[in-house]
Amino acid sequence: MKYIKTLIEPPIATIKIDRESHLNALNLELIKQLSNELSIIESVENIRAVIIMGVGNKAFVAGADIKEFSNYSITQGEALSKKGQDTLFNKIENFNKPIIAAINGYALGGGLELALSCHMRVASKNAKMGLPECSLGLIPGYGGTQRLVRTVGRTQATEMILTSKIIDADFAEKIGLINLQSNQEELLKKATQLATSCVKNSPKSLESAIKCINKNFDQEGLTFEQKELVNCLELMSLKRVFQLF
Ligand code: CAA
Repeated sequence: MKYIKTLIEPPIATIKIDRESHLNALNLELIKQLSNELSIIESVENIRAVIIMGVGNKAFVAGADIKEFSNYSITQGEALSKKGQDTLFNKIENFNKPIIAAINGYALGGGLELALSCHMRVASKNAKMGLPECSLGLIPGYGGTQRLVRTVGRTQATEMILTSKIIDADFAEKIGLINLQSNQEELLKKATQLATSCVKNSPKSLESAIKCINKNFDQEGLTFEQKELVNCLELMSLKRVFQLF
């Protein structure tokens, strides 16, 4: 099954996550395909910026695939979190060209974590964003505890994570989680405008600036988050997550 559709219109590539029947939830195969697609784009010189969005008008990504996740052993859950971080989320964050998330609906759990890995975010007015993992007996496992704090500050991030609250585009803009919002029809246009404003600048400058912006990001925090996720997994039955859902 192919989960990724890419529209190449140099200097911008738009990657669409195409698993609409599951609100574009991230299963292992999708993570692998998205990672592979980025590896290809990384070395294409005339692509200078990337937009990631979900297919449909309901979801960017509604999280990690809970059904797939619920069948995993603790060791597999740990490996999933580590593999996702290494092969996709860190890759996006450290990409050599700007990546913009165009959040066209739900961005929950791993979906918001995916958007947080991107360098900038635009969201449609119907977007709903949150990290509901604590309500499932888990914690964010794809860098959410680290990247949300860094993006919106400790006060707002702590409230979002500990209460599992879901926020709309207005609030997300107010706290600096997104760069801008637009109506659903114009979302891709707005994301493209933002990408275009970047690509007029030198590619080497963009690459260097991204490296510098990420320089103080504490990788130890990501490893620590994975360990704490495993502690949560040990304390709960993954089956219960599935039933709750
Ligand atoms: N994983 C797998 N399938 C999902 C999914 C997910 N995260 N989210 C939605 N789907 C599937 C549903 O099972 C449903 O499929 P079926 O028709 O086969 O039953 C389909 O997508 C449509 O979903 P709903 O019928 O639920 O749509 P809705 O409009 O009623 O509700 C929603 C939308 C509020 C987003 C709801 O789907 C929902 O709450 N989804 C789960 C959100 C969530 O908890 N995400 C966090 C996951 S945990 C995580 O990401 C872990 C991590 O980082 C470690």
